Amino acid sequence: MRPIGIFDSGIGGLTVARAVAEVLPDHSIFYYGDTAHLPYGEKSPALIRRYATEITRELLRLGCGSIVVACNSASSNALDAIRAEAGASIPVIDAVHPVVEAVAAQFSGGQIGVIGTRATIDSNWYQRLLERRGFEVVSKATPLLASAIEAGFHGGEVSNALIAAYFESGEFKAVRALILGCTHYPLVADQIALALPDSVALVDSAESAAQALKAALDPLSDGPEATGARADRFMVSDLTESFTLGAQRFFGQPVILVEHKLQSAKG
Ligand code: DGL
Repeated sequence: MRPIGIFDSGIGGLTVARAVAEVLPDHSIFYYGDTAHLPYGEKSPALIRRYATEITRELLRLGCGSIVVACNSASSNALDAIRAEAGASIPVIDAVHPVVEAVAAQFSGGQIGVIGTRATIDSNWYQRLLERRGFEVVSKATPLLASAIEAGFHGGEVSNALIAAYFESGEFKAVRALILGCTHYPLVADQIALALPDSVALVDSAESAAQALKAALDPLSDGPEATGARADRFMVSDLTESFTLGAQRFFGQPVILVEHKLQSAKG
């Protein structure tokens, strides 16, 4: 079995890698966090597409047999380019379609809320896919939330104050579900739940993406790896101590990050 390639703008996508590791424990994961270029949420669609295609190319060069676009900002702005780079024989799972499918399976009509980075919300991609399924969409960019979480501010006063400020206008009070459309948000899901009425279900894109990958790989599976040994690799484009410290918070267990430059950075 070839490794699963998972990428994100940084270490936040380790929440998706964690969900994938739980659902597909026999597969090795090659994770790539583009820490040199984060946040993608503040970049133009053209630049996000350039970064995402180069990472896809590199993960395939390293031998990956499938690609998971953990980053919602890349999924919303670069999926066509990533699919073109990967070619038809490589399963590509994005962060957006699986969660939209999960919402459509659970609810029929009504209002659905979405929060994400500016690049995700401005792309209108979630909105378009949900509206096609008959939902009314209330969306909001919550850009400071990801950077606060990345800096370790989750589960306390800083993230509570940000959530309160973003939600104070009350537009999410009547939604049936709120999609956490960013890799970082699972770490503040409990705090978000407390800021909303009990009637609002929270839907996390990491879990849906992991399930979609499992469904895509099962028919292709040629059985467990011969050795039974996983050989995960956790790569970043720029390694700092804070990324090393943060990685464990997102993955839920110790992670050894290594710096791995992309071709363009090698000049
Ligand atoms: N990983 C990004 C996402 O899911 C959030 C962080 C960023 O802006 O790079 O959209």
